Amino acid sequence: MYEFVTVDSAELLAEGYTADFPDDDEPVLRDAHGREVLTWQENYPFTERMPRPEYERLKRLLQIELLKLQHWVAETGQRLVILFEGRDAAGKGGTIKRFTEHLDPRGARTVALDKPGERERGEWYFQRYVRELPTAGEIVLFDRSWYNRAVVEHVMGYCTKAEYDLFMQQAPEFERMLVEDGVLLAKLWFSVSRSEQRTRFVIRQIDPVRQWKLSPNDIRSLDRWDDYTEAKVAMFRSTDTEVAPWTVVKSNDKKRARIEAMRSVLARFDYADKDAGVIGTPDVRVVGAAATLLE
Ligand code: ADP
Ligand code: MLT
Repeated sequence: MYEFVTVDSAELLAEGYTADFPDDDEPVLRDAHGREVLTWQENYPFTERMPRPEYERLKRLLQIELLKLQHWVAETGQRLVILFEGRDAAGKGGTIKRFTEHLDPRGARTVALDKPGERERGEWYFQRYVRELPTAGEIVLFDRSWYNRAVVEHVMGYCTKAEYDLFMQQAPEFERMLVEDGVLLAKLWFSVSRSEQRTRFVIRQIDPVRQWKLSPNDIRSLDRWDDYTEAKVAMFRSTDTEVAPWTVVKSNDKKRARIEAMRSVLARFDYADKDAGVIGTPDVRVVGAAATLLE
């Protein structure tokens, strides 16, 4: 039985919770009795979060490696796509921010597309994503991606069954074509546990700088946890391929997730002046192939 203080769905929009913000990454949420909500520990292989000094030190070193990666991409004319997926509040946005913090914005773009408009709905589903793909020398980070159709659109009923089925068939073919053409494709799935997702929604509700992130879809997704799980499993089944495998990042501890996500991306490429000592080995308790880390 899970023993930490958690937040019920019914309570989500209720009063009584308070939050302190000792630093921007780790708001401390307390329930109406003043007890700290520690849901991040749910199914997590650590009992302490990564200490801040260690995080800051590693982040800086890995960001230097990311700059070398960017330099290599530019020099050798690579096209690099890193896509960030996961449930709401899994930590995609925060990780992308740290990835791009020190990159040269002229060679690295983040793409976060809005829901498809009238014109886009008349196009081939992948078309608007194709428009955003990198040219030689560029890195593109997708904050959500074509996988919307496999997960949120499917669960929330924004697409038909036929559109969903076609996507599941086309996505691996689409990615195979990209990879065959030389595009470097990294697919990251950020995995947050159920209680921790709820906690993050409550924090979004309380924290003025996070309120814009709390969408009606977030609230709806609370009651759809199992549907999302089913959609995720089906997605991995169809799209975790040899040429375009998924990497799962367990992200209840945001700092560890960001560090390990950087490590795992850097570990795959042989860029110039790579410091293998800095990259080390991605921690298999936090980051790895879908088959090894699915909750
Ligand atoms: P966020 O990306 O901030 O978590 P939401 O939770 O509101 O935003 O939505 C999740 C995703 O679902 C977004 O990529 C959004 O564009 C997409 N989405 C929302 N409504 C629709 C819709 N009616 N049709 C297709 N996609 C939608
Ligand atoms: C998400 O995963 O929904 C958000 O991007 C979380 C974040 O703000 O980091």
